[in-house]
Amino acid sequence: MKEITVKITEDKEYKICIEKGILNNLGEHLSKTIENKRIIIITNPLVNSLYGAKLLSVLRKDGFNSDLIQVSDGEKYKSLPITKYLYDELLKRKADRATTLIALGGGVIGDLTGFVASTYMRGLPLVHIPTTLLAQVDSSIGGKVAVDHPLAKNIIGSFYQPKVVYTDPEVLQTLSDKDIKNGIVEAIKIAVIKSPAFFNRLEKNIEQLLKKHKDLLCEVVIEAVSLKVDIVLKDPWERGLRKMLNFGHSIGHALEVEAGYQDLSHGEAVALGMLIETKIARNREMCSGDFEEQIKHILPFLLSLSPFSREQTSRKQESIFKYTKNIDYNQFWETLTLDKKNYQGRITFILPEALGKVSLIDNIKKEEVIKAFEEFKKEWELC
Ligand SMILES: NC(=O)c1ccc[n+]([C@@H]2O[C@H](COP(=O)([O-])OP(=O)(O)OC[C@H]3O[C@@H](n4cnc5c(N)ncnc54)[C@H](O)[C@@H]3O)[C@@H](O)[C@H]2O)c1
Ligand SMILES: [Zn+2]
Repeated sequence: MKEITVKITEDKEYKICIEKGILNNLGEHLSKTIENKRIIIITNPLVNSLYGAKLLSVLRKDGFNSDLIQVSDGEKYKSLPITKYLYDELLKRKADRATTLIALGGGVIGDLTGFVASTYMRGLPLVHIPTTLLAQVDSSIGGKVAVDHPLAKNIIGSFYQPKVVYTDPEVLQTLSDKDIKNGIVEAIKIAVIKSPAFFNRLEKNIEQLLKKHKDLLCEVVIEAVSLKVDIVLKDPWERGLRKMLNFGHSIGHALEVEAGYQDLSHGEAVALGMLIETKIARNREMCSGDFEEQIKHILPFLLSLSPFSREQTSRKQESIFKYTKNIDYNQFWETLTLDKKNYQGRITFILPEALGKVSLIDNIKKEEVIKAFEEFKKEWELC
């Protein structure tokens, strides 16, 4: 088992335990980590049907008294109404401060459960079991928990560290192709920010990763987690360096808001965000044309976009680009002004300079966002 320790303060740390098949003996591991036997699992119907019964049974075997609550599947349920529903359910089940919440699912379940755990009774013990590639490489690490508001993504949230994260790469075998791609997008983001070598490995192995090659997926999870933990350790409360992890997320989050948190997944929105933010960086002469080509080589591929096979991909393009194609720039700019990274009214983006180097730019202008969007649309014939 690979164990990565995240030491947040002198007396506060937790482990990310990564092992194929760890779900099968989770009770044993959990007995060593949490003191009480009362557990409530929060998940969605799809993940429940795949792993819920199994988890309940391994926990029962080790003497845990566990219960399970389901919420509907999808980003639009990472919301305040569903948060209230979970508070109601926890009260009905008489959850108290000795009750551990387990988030069993992707980034949506992780962020939502984490937010509920951080606020119910001022904090319940939390355990993450991330089941998507995106959640394993990114969202289960670092303690950012939040729900969305219709006007702004992840805007109601807190920092809340779990007791432990159990990551089982075996569960990725049931993931859809689209969600494998979404996870690779966040891995690419971390690589662009911090590691040219990791970027090259992702690029080289992309076909095998899309085929869900078990060992490669496991290696990617371990490498991405290690890179992200390195950043989180240096800046746990996102006061400086950690903001760099938001490359692609200014445009990406605003697109998710425009889409009403439907049709466009987080990974797809971030891929579009990275492409358009790279264009802004290129127009500012911050990065080279070669760098932009590298980004354009890999990301459109993950969006099932290829200039050489437009006929085959046109339907997919239509759904992904509905929001970029008919964009209302005034409204989009309004949405960008509500982003959490902005400071004192200055619109702030993370822009790339080269592989392994990004910078925080806090004087983004509406005109350059429009210009980059228009160029992007022209390149992909979306006008
Ligand atoms: N907190 C953070 O630091 C952070 C970082 C990155 C992203 N996020 C958040 O993560 C969310 C996106 O997460 P996501 O991409 O995991 O989406 P998701 O949670 O919606 O999961 C995607 C789909 O995969 C399904 N699924 C989950 N596990 C599965 C499995 N093992 N087999 C088959 N299907 C499975 C889900 O039911 C869902 O339909 C966004 O809300 C984003 O804001 C948070
Ligand atoms: Zn993200």
